[in-house]
Amino acid sequence: MKIHTLVVGVLAVGVMVSCSKKPEPILVKKVVPVVVSPLAPVLQPRTGEPVKPVGAPKVADLAMVDLGKKLFFDPRLSKSGFISCNSCHNISMGGSDNLKSSIGHKWHQGPINAPTVLNSSLNLAQFWDGRAKDLKEQAGGPISNPGEMSFTHDLAVGVLQSIPAYVDEFKKVFKVDTIDIDKVTTAIAAFEETLVTPNSRFDKWLKGDDAAISKEELAGYELFKSSGCTSCHNGAALGGNSFQKMGVVQQYKSKSTAVGRFAVTKDNADRFQFKVPTLRNVELTYPYFHDGGAPTLAKAVEVMGQIQVGKTFTAEQNASIVAFLKTLTGDQPNFPIPQLPPSSDTTPAPQPFGK
Ligand code: HEC
Ligand code: HEC
Repeated sequence: MKIHTLVVGVLAVGVMVSCSKKPEPILVKKVVPVVVSPLAPVLQPRTGEPVKPVGAPKVADLAMVDLGKKLFFDPRLSKSGFISCNSCHNISMGGSDNLKSSIGHKWHQGPINAPTVLNSSLNLAQFWDGRAKDLKEQAGGPISNPGEMSFTHDLAVGVLQSIPAYVDEFKKVFKVDTIDIDKVTTAIAAFEETLVTPNSRFDKWLKGDDAAISKEELAGYELFKSSGCTSCHNGAALGGNSFQKMGVVQQYKSKSTAVGRFAVTKDNADRFQFKVPTLRNVELTYPYFHDGGAPTLAKAVEVMGQIQVGKTFTAEQNASIVAFLKTLTGDQPNFPIPQLPPSSDTTPAPQPFGK
């Protein structure tokens, strides 16, 4: 017996909706079921490649994700009332701040480049030196870091507890009356888990769509593989899954005092071992390296060629690798800007200036 399978998919269609007064167009997602004919060509996924496609976002608890999203955007988790997670991991800019190193409380000059939060759930550990084991453990760090949000966990929780709408929302999500830092970081991590970027042109190619990338981009990928870049940049994130020496063939020259994994393990063999950064959305996350030392993708590829694999690329080779890297930009997070509940009369005032 022959079985015809009907593939039922979902197509997101942009619909223009006009507001009553000024016809400001708003893009609303409408879900339209599509029936794909059984005769449509079936794409053959490419197997055996060192790079894998990024999966769709996993949402286990929508209410918790929504709460975590608000917290991610809420500057009241900082002493100044001005700095949120999104200040340094701007979701509108590839989840980064596009600065060599971040600006923290009272314009504090950060010691290291901010990695993107996009696809950070795929990392084996968090931070350049992997000192936080997961997103939940990581999220507590910046709130109390004097050079970042400069608050304390107790003060941040106090602020949230003074805002009735937050108290209600935590109650709805966690079924308890009191807010604590554990619940704050759990919710932020749940939101971050959704920040994955599937459907890049390269992933479409991996899934068998030959036309998704150009000849030059494909040549760049072949060169990326044959040059040994995939020995460290592999898997779904093209990185994030190992710590590797920065400067395998040649020493990396930097003014940064960061020592990498050594800071965690105190093992000399781990000196200058950094978590391999993901190359997903890398065209959006300049400048590059832990010290932000490479302003452009071309420069980063040149340096990697020389110090990691001992190769000096021609201008044409460099351009083709850069072209390939730009095919790794996937669907960026797409959601309405979260509306934050207002402070109450008892909410402690923010302290942007002074001590
Ligand atoms: C002042 C800027 C700043 C703020 C605010 C900030 N971060 Fe970061 N974030 C950084 C920097 C810099 C690093 C890298 C630090 C390191 O590796 O030592 C980082 C690292 C991370 C990482 C690890 C990514 C990876 O690939 O290792 C995650 C996840 C993250 N931050 C999430 C958050 C969340 C959640 C918040 C809010 C609670 C936040 N950040 C607030 C600057 C900031
Ligand atoms: C031995 C492992 C290894 C190899 C091989 C390797 N890389 Fe890297 N790559 C890293 C590490 C580690 C970093 C982060 C280094 C740092 O900032 O200290 C990095 C960073 C990068 C970055 C910057 C990403 C960012 O967000 O800062 C790019 C781009 C890059 N590599 C491309 C390449 C290319 C292209 C090749 C092949 C020519 C290559 N890499 C080979 C380990 C490797």
